[in-house]
Amino acid sequence: MLATALLLAALAAPQEPSHDATVHHSFDDVAKWVGVFDDPGRDAWQKPDAVIEAIGVGPGMTVADLGAGTGYFSMHLAKAVGEKGRVLAIDIEPNFIKYMKERAEKAQITQIEPVLASPEDPKLPEHGVDLVLIVDTWHHIDDRLQYLVTLAEGLKPGGRVAVVDFKKGDFPVGPPDVHKMTAQRVASEFASAGWKQASHWDELPYQYVLVFTPPAASAGAKP
Ligand SMILES: C[S@@+](CC[C@H](N)C(=O)[O-])C[C@H]1O[C@@H](n2cnc3c(N)ncnc32)[C@H](O)[C@@H]1O
Repeated sequence: MLATALLLAALAAPQEPSHDATVHHSFDDVAKWVGVFDDPGRDAWQKPDAVIEAIGVGPGMTVADLGAGTGYFSMHLAKAVGEKGRVLAIDIEPNFIKYMKERAEKAQITQIEPVLASPEDPKLPEHGVDLVLIVDTWHHIDDRLQYLVTLAEGLKPGGRVAVVDFKKGDFPVGPPDVHKMTAQRVASEFASAGWKQASHWDELPYQYVLVFTPPAASAGAKP
């Protein structure tokens, strides 16, 4: 009787949403993902240069493209930061790292530096990055509240994190709804970890663009 009552109470209590990935799947088939991420039709709905302007990327900045994939955004970021800037093209899939190295060399772009990360550590240089851009990747990361602590340690003073991800809805591109996270859920995770939302840009047809600043005591904190 007591056990049943406790079980019913537990089921009735509001559940804290999970901070783990909504999906784990392999991205090792580079040729397949080049076809998806670098589809010639993507620019029309992704508007990469407008996104880059909206999140405030400029010449000379060091920007991390976290979950860079084939380097679609890294190529656009490289233009925006110019030759004096750096783009850390970070991914956990070694085949993407190899692909991005070759892609940057072929295009003679020296400011793109592919970085092989581990699932729980983006391997950012300590307090070395002005902005981390996370496109269609946040929902692939586990234990995200702890991950936000690590991200903050990689930011320079005044550094920011931008999340671009798919809204729920029946669109011709993007993951299934069950893998997606709403802008509200992403914002609430950042808030739980003490981050502040700096902006919400809503000019893309299928995605939201959120920018966050870290807790004052973490990013770029220097004695
Ligand atoms: C849907 S793809 C997005 C690729 C790219 N951002 C784009 O928009 O074209 C997600 C990427 O995140 C990478 N990824 C998954 N988990 C990751 C993690 N914990 N850290 C860094 N990258 C991760 C995957 O290997 C994959 O390249």
